[in-house]
Parts: sequence; C-alpha cells; structure tokens
Amino acid sequence: MAPSVESDAVILFATEKDSLIADRNTHATRVAGLGVDPEKKALFASVTKRIDYTLKIGTELHGIRLTQLTEQQAEELAAFVAERGVVFFRDQDDLDGNEHVKLGRRWGPLHIHPLIPHEQENPEVIVLDSRLNPPNRYNTNNSWHSDVSFEPAPSSFSILKFDEIPESGGDTVWANGYQLYDDLSQPIKTLLEGLTATHSSDIFRIIQARTGRKTFGKLNDSSHPVVRTNPVTGWKSIFTNSVFTREIDGVTSLESKWILDYLNDLTSKRLEYQVRFRWEKHSVAIWDNRSTFHTGVPDFRPYNRLGLRVTVSGEVPYYDPSSGTQAKAFESTAKAIIAKQEAAEAEKSKKGLDNLQLA
Ligand SMILES: [Fe+2]
Repeated sequence: MAPSVESDAVILFATEKDSLIADRNTHATRVAGLGVDPEKKALFASVTKRIDYTLKIGTELHGIRLTQLTEQQAEELAAFVAERGVVFFRDQDDLDGNEHVKLGRRWGPLHIHPLIPHEQENPEVIVLDSRLNPPNRYNTNNSWHSDVSFEPAPSSFSILKFDEIPESGGDTVWANGYQLYDDLSQPIKTLLEGLTATHSSDIFRIIQARTGRKTFGKLNDSSHPVVRTNPVTGWKSIFTNSVFTREIDGVTSLESKWILDYLNDLTSKRLEYQVRFRWEKHSVAIWDNRSTFHTGVPDFRPYNRLGLRVTVSGEVPYYDPSSGTQAKAFESTAKAIIAKQEAAEAEKSKKGLDNLQLA
C-alpha cells in the first residue's frame, strides 16, 4: 500500500474511507489578504532581506519564520503573495506536516487532492515524489498549469516545501498571468473578456485508468472565466492553462485551439513573464494560483526530489470588468524608481560641484 521512500513521510494513496471525508466543493468563505496595510509594515518589520527576482513576479524574503507569523503578518503575506505572484523562503526546516497544514488553514479551507498521494497523518498534505512517477509519463512536469483549476472553487494559494532535492536540476518556473493579460492588444482583451473555458480532470482520469489508483472523491470539470479578477489585488489575469483547460466554451474546436495555443505559447515562451527558482533543502515557495502558472523542469533524473504541498481552496472565479491591472498599479512603482534614480543623479552632480569647489 505505502510505497517506500527515503523520508519520514508515510505516503498513502486514497482509500474508500478517505473518499468519505474528501469534499470536492470546498471554497473559501473570506478572501485572505484583502484590505491589509498596503505597505505591510507588520510583515516587513521581520524581513531582513528582500530580493525581487524580476520587476513583476517573484520575491525571496529572508528573516521570516513561517511557523512564527502573527495573524497580521500572515494576512499581509497573503496580500504580498497575490501581488508578487510567488514568494520564496529558505531554511524553513521546522515547517513539518502539522505546521504546513496550520499555515495553509490561516488562508482558507485546504483542498484534498483527488488522486495525488498524501501523508498518512495529514490528507491535506500531498506528496510530490519523483520516484512515484515514471520518467516523463503520467505526471504534469514540464506542463504549465495552475493548481487544481478543474475544481469549482480552484486554489487561491499553494505552499510547497522540498525536503529532498536533486544535486542539480529540478527547478520550478512560474509565469505571470497579470502581465500576460496586460500585454495583449485591446481587441484581443475584449474578445477574451467575454469568454469562459472548461477546465477538466482529464489528465487524472488517464492516470487513474492506467494505474488503477483509487480517486479521492469526484474528479470535477468546471467552467471559469478566461480573464479572471484576483480578489486581493483587484487586477485582471489570464486564467487558462495547458494541463487542465480542455476548451473555450461556445466557439468552434478550431477557434478554441487557436485561442488556447496562443495563450499557452505566451505563457511558456515569453521569458519576461517568468521567474525560475532553484530549490534548496527546506526551501518553501508560496504562490497565487489565480494569477500565475507554473511548471517543474524535468531535468534532474537520475536524482530524485520529494516535495510536500498544501493547497488552499479559494473563491469561485469571477470576472469584474471594472477591475484594475498590474500594469496600471506598476505605474506608481515605475515613477518611484525613476524619482530615486533622478535623486541619485542629482546627488552625484551636487557632489561633483562640491568637489570642484574644493579643488
Ligand atoms: Fe502544480
């Protein structure tokens, strides 16, 4: 029943009993991170170093111990993750299964995955163990997706920790759904804003049929808006992906393919939308599934990797035409950067003048 792995975690596949407690229709009853201090002073009081990997997606924070967050810090972190798309932490060795679950529950009910194996103690903690997947088969590596987008209320946040990492390879890459939307021309934005798409569990049906694993409750399919409002930031994002989005609703299959191929191409090929993370043992990444896509890089075999993930259920996706955009919000950030540069230039030339006077 439990495959042997080099870890303390005991892994179980779903059982009949598990199916009874699996609730496939869980959704958040509040929006974590909504309405917090825009400067997030409580969170940043503990931050000793901030590294923005790119301008618009991905930040590494030092000085934070995820098991020790105050309530206010946890709320501000949820908002910060929604803004930055994905946030990275190092050396979170005390984040065990129970703490992992505790952290996720601060932001909403936890999703129980219909097929991926889970910890014995905590069915909400799924086990991503490369040894359980034959190379390049069945798994979703190298395929861009947003976690469990096939659910009626897909995930808001995922929290992933790696306890065993390959000596080389095995990075994860995230792409920015806000920017993908922002860079489209207005006619294409207008077209997409009127559309919904069906997200399906087809890939898990295939895995189930091939492996005979029991499923953990129902394998859902759901229709969601193609352009989605992130309830925390209020920004528009593209919300289709290459693993779970089966088709655009109400158009021909050729039109659906054209639209999805185009959006999937932008996600996977435009490097300026992406951020890549090199895992270390006990690194943690927390990301917003409503506005980002991600994929593992399957370049690490014969090494293995073992990660544990908690997936927070979010709200039923919606599109509000009056939503803002990351591009608009970024205008003030850009102005602040330019003002800082100009102040530095002015200071430099003032010093130059002072030096001249001294000479
Ligand atoms: Fe994923």
